[in-house]
Amino acid sequence: MKEINIGLLGCGTIGTGVAKILIEKKDLIISRVGASLNLKYAADIDIKKDRGIRFDDGVLVTDAYKVVNDPDIDIVIELIGGEGIAKDLILKAIDNGKQVVTANKALLAGHGNEIFKAAEEKGVDLAFEASVGGCMPIVKSLRESLVGNYIKSITGILNGTCNYILSKITDDGSSFESALKQAQDNGFAEADPALDIEGIDTAHKLAILTSLAYGMEINFKDIYIEGISGITPLDIEFAGQFGYRIKLLAISKNRGNAIEARVHPTMIPSGNLLSRVNGSMNAIAISGDAVGDMMLYGHGAGMMPTAGAVISDTVDLARNLLSGAKKRIPLLSYQSESIRKILVLSVDEISTYYYFRFSAVDHPGVLSKISGVLGKYGISIKSVHQKGRKSEGSVPIVMLTHLAREADVKKAFSEITSLEIVNDKSVLIRIEDENWQE
Ligand code: HSE
Repeated sequence: MKEINIGLLGCGTIGTGVAKILIEKKDLIISRVGASLNLKYAADIDIKKDRGIRFDDGVLVTDAYKVVNDPDIDIVIELIGGEGIAKDLILKAIDNGKQVVTANKALLAGHGNEIFKAAEEKGVDLAFEASVGGCMPIVKSLRESLVGNYIKSITGILNGTCNYILSKITDDGSSFESALKQAQDNGFAEADPALDIEGIDTAHKLAILTSLAYGMEINFKDIYIEGISGITPLDIEFAGQFGYRIKLLAISKNRGNAIEARVHPTMIPSGNLLSRVNGSMNAIAISGDAVGDMMLYGHGAGMMPTAGAVISDTVDLARNLLSGAKKRIPLLSYQSESIRKILVLSVDEISTYYYFRFSAVDHPGVLSKISGVLGKYGISIKSVHQKGRKSEGSVPIVMLTHLAREADVKKAFSEITSLEIVNDKSVLIRIEDENWQE
């Protein structure tokens, strides 16, 4: 039987899951692939720790360069993560003509254009299903299943940690800190949880998806990013009273010659399927001109769901090697000569609906002052609510707007928050509501 030799770089949580499948499901894989995927090396700085798997002698090594330089290795799987040594090892593996699998979203978002160019020039495949959405086959969907579609929009819950925290606060009344701690204990938060909380991890994933969806270079730096650290239980409660739930969404819309790409907490109607995606689960809604609306739902993080996606990529590349096929599917979904630089619109140029919460002194004329500023910038108010009781001399005034331009909203918001009658704890949350017709 033919053997394909695999070299694994990084044997942490996901790497251990990958090794587990390769070793413990060897027969299943042989029966599906018709060849044996042989885990020749698993490189990690710690080869002493008990991973609960029986590795053959000599498989665990500490020298990752030994793996990428071994002429017998056919496929290198990079699961070290981050933008440091992982980049060097991937470039070395490509240079040595290896097929490469990676789950490294931060690396692809930050250096993907350089890495894909190197793979293109060397004529090797680079697969990255596990970089976005864990077990959900979103890369395969965009690269293969949706090939006959112009993609109109992508809306996703792409970070399990943030979704877990928001769900815990909303449904269980947990505090932000205890929900984050639980997410960390469950093993889906990043080593630096600021990457999760501040929306950066979600933006890494959105940068990869927009490239695949629209045929553009990976463009992380132009994505607008706002995380969930400013979301309070009070706003979650008000959202509920309006029939909304707050989710950290990755939103991308095709605007013809430009796209919108933004990550921010968003109020969505509780009837929207995405609002039902709770806990650490992820989901991605895609709208294509042929398929209409479709959605993927599943575990976006965790050992075995993510390892499953890595194995799917590994098997794809193994099948290519067995059949002699190379670069059957363009790395970034479009032929490299068709990939363009597409403008990512500044967030100031988007139009959406807004939720404002101002803390204002409870005096006559306060509302007219606030609505006067909104009127000055052409922002039309859909509803106003003076909610709850006075605290420390202030009352919360909650407003929902009709469709408004972000640039106008920012100017009005800043002018209102600098009014003497308003204290500095004002909140702005964008709303995406498909039920509102303007
Ligand atoms: N920290 C990420 C999350 C892991 O919480 O979703 C998966 O990319």
